[in-house]
Amino acid sequence: MKTIYLDYGATSPVREEALHAMMPYFQLEYGNPGSIHDLGQRSSDAIQHARTQIAQAIGATPREIVFTSSGTEANNLAIIGGAKKRKHLGNHIITSSIEHPAVLEACRYLEREGFHVTYLPVDSYGQVEVKDVANAITEKTILVTIMSANNEVGTIQPIAEIGQLLQDSSILFHTDAVQYIGKVPCSVANLGVDLLSIGSHKLYGPKGIGALYIRKGVRIEPLFHGGGQEREIRPSTLNTPAIVGFGVATTLAVQEIQQESERLTALREYAWSRIHQEVKDVDLNGHPTDRLSNNINLSFHRVEGQAILLELNRQQIYVSSGSACSAGKHRPSHVLRAMGRSDEVAHQSMRITLGKETTKEDIDIMIHHLSQVLTYLRSLFI
Ligand SMILES: Cc1ncc(COP(=O)(O)O)c(C=O)c1O
Repeated sequence: MKTIYLDYGATSPVREEALHAMMPYFQLEYGNPGSIHDLGQRSSDAIQHARTQIAQAIGATPREIVFTSSGTEANNLAIIGGAKKRKHLGNHIITSSIEHPAVLEACRYLEREGFHVTYLPVDSYGQVEVKDVANAITEKTILVTIMSANNEVGTIQPIAEIGQLLQDSSILFHTDAVQYIGKVPCSVANLGVDLLSIGSHKLYGPKGIGALYIRKGVRIEPLFHGGGQEREIRPSTLNTPAIVGFGVATTLAVQEIQQESERLTALREYAWSRIHQEVKDVDLNGHPTDRLSNNINLSFHRVEGQAILLELNRQQIYVSSGSACSAGKHRPSHVLRAMGRSDEVAHQSMRITLGKETTKEDIDIMIHHLSQVLTYLRSLFI
């Protein structure tokens, strides 16, 4: 039986070129990049090269990139570190109600520390309205954090417009771009952001590595205290192999954006039109066009998404219900709830995310089994 992986929104395999580039740094070039001998300096050079690759991918300079252990840590560093540094200017933060838990929980932590957070609503497509951001600003607002693209429904947010709104203010603007980088061309200058989080494992790099873009001149408090690495913003010995793989994967993902997003958009549209025609009572969640090229989020009437997932799993077809990070917990998706869906509809959702290895044949096989699974599951409730 062929394995069909359709959960690239959760994670992706490390691509060959990245793995190849990483290998020497496990055993041969194992020097601590902080050591001044040649072995250490070769690691340091490799890290600098990766830093340049990541900076170039988003139109930044290498000094504006700080490596972290993950997208989660980059979000925490931006939000908690940014808010704490600006506490003397105010205590109000604006975010949206559809953010990843790595943002929402960082905001909840800050609420416990005395900050006040506004969670903006979204429309039925899961999009934040720029006028709602404008209306929420008070003289105490110090930080706005809105994700670039949603991990569950794939909706892309109007980041450049929000950036323009905040352009001449002293409010810090952060975006969680973990799902966005490598899928949509990105320039930090065009987006108008001060802080931007990136993760490696969604773009065919290794897990456990991420980065935070910090615009030149912006100051934030470190979360950790230790040696002076990463200009004291994020101390700890750097993970050289992971950083090298992250750099290569990011460069290649960005180089391939045009071609791959056209291919995936065509596959996505093909999949949705077939599902729409062949499977009754199904709705597409998220924006029809302002969405990630690889994301299809569906709600199937009268059937739990989790039940579909488990039946497809028996055929070695791997999808997700809601976001992978909340899978296992039986709470309805907070994203779909914020988009105005009932708890029942939110429980009926399933996320298919396409990637580099996905073919039209995979989609055909998936739809064949999906139709059978739905017929079977729906028959149980008649
Ligand atoms: C939008 C978004 N932000 C943050 C994260 C967390 O990234 P990491 O797994 O690198 O901690 C994820 C991962 O699912 C994500 O999709």
